[in-house]
Amino acid sequence: MADRILLTGGAGYIGSHIYLDLVAAGFDPVIYDNFSNADVAVLDALKQITQRRVDVVRADVRNGTALRAVLSRGGFAGVIHLAALKSVPESVSSPRAYFDNNLGGLITLMQAMDDAGVNRLVFSSSATVYGTPETVPIPETAGRDYTNPYGFTKLASEQMLEMVAAAEPRWSIGALRYFNPAGAHSSGLIGETPSEKTTNLFPAIARVALGQLPRLTVFGDDYDTPDGSAERDFIHIEDLAAGHVLSLRRLIEDGHSHCVNLGTGRGHTVLEVLHAFAKASGQEIPHVLAPRRPGDVARSVADPAMAETVLGFRARRSLEEMCKSTWRMLEQTHPGARDAA
Ligand code: NAD
Ligand code: UD1
Repeated sequence: MADRILLTGGAGYIGSHIYLDLVAAGFDPVIYDNFSNADVAVLDALKQITQRRVDVVRADVRNGTALRAVLSRGGFAGVIHLAALKSVPESVSSPRAYFDNNLGGLITLMQAMDDAGVNRLVFSSSATVYGTPETVPIPETAGRDYTNPYGFTKLASEQMLEMVAAAEPRWSIGALRYFNPAGAHSSGLIGETPSEKTTNLFPAIARVALGQLPRLTVFGDDYDTPDGSAERDFIHIEDLAAGHVLSLRRLIEDGHSHCVNLGTGRGHTVLEVLHAFAKASGQEIPHVLAPRRPGDVARSVADPAMAETVLGFRARRSLEEMCKSTWRMLEQTHPGARDAA
């Protein structure tokens, strides 16, 4: 029987792509999600792509009883834990919800895992743990800090995991620090659904391309970058997903805990992304320049060397592929997208 993997948050943007990679790699993933930020329609898409039934449990990671019930089925080689809240502005206005979901969820999950004798864990961390980076590209050894409650939960989670791994050697843990995930699956059937709630760049550009927003507000034109707009390390969602399977394999093969950046090592500015998306979609993306967004950093680019050394991971897909795949997904999920803007 194939090894089962519990995939918390598996119905979300990143989790749904990891699900596909796990199936392709011969694992038997079980999605565990409360659907607080996911649409059940994603399950049909996953079924259509894989041509197999999707094993899904609708429950909360703060519910230890439900976690114990699913883990008691047995055969779990590990857990990939993505379930969390992720909006920076929401975390500023509702910090307790973030502590409860992101920290409470992790604590409850680890207890249920330990009770079931499952001690391999891949954890979704973020480049947000670097706060305002001291150096760019950013190596894993850079200092850590937080600038908002969401970032605090990721930093505190990493620290909790480190203390547990030090005290209880039965744990093997892969902490993956994502830079800026973007793009959609090559099928065009899944990707990040742009909504008013999301404040990230790609969903905002998508909303302009769809005619849902009149123009993109570019926050900051006076940064120390080639065109004055902020620079980020955008990583294609399919590359990011592949990193999780490599991390899991490493934990299964030799139990080697690791904490690595998942990025490309290459930065693109906000204006570069805007132009690349306009080219890939054939849509005009009007924009307006505005002051810097509070809390933003000028440049955030990964040093990707450690992930290559430790996991054999290297991101391969370009910004053009991120834009093209996003547009392909929007055309499929929003009929008439081409004429919308
Ligand atoms: P997402 O919101 O699309 O996915 C998260 C999923 O978790 C959703 O399906 C949601 O319904 C579920 N969920 C949330 N709270 C839950 C709970 N208490 N119990 C059960 N399910 C719950 O977000 P995503 O972009 O796929 O992010 C996944 C993970 O990656 C998160 O931990 C996030 O913090 C981290 N991350 C994301 C980014 C990014 O830019 N998207 C960057 C760095 C880190
Ligand atoms: C943000 C979060 C980070 C989180 C990540 C994933 C902040 C400060 N950081 O990263 O903690 O892990 O999302 O959820 O919020 N931009 C525009 N116009 C827009 C939207 C964005 O110009 O309409 C710019 C931003 O000002 C920024 C860049 O695009 O300079 C990237 O923004 P975004 O996609 O929100 O990601 P980060 O800020 O890097």
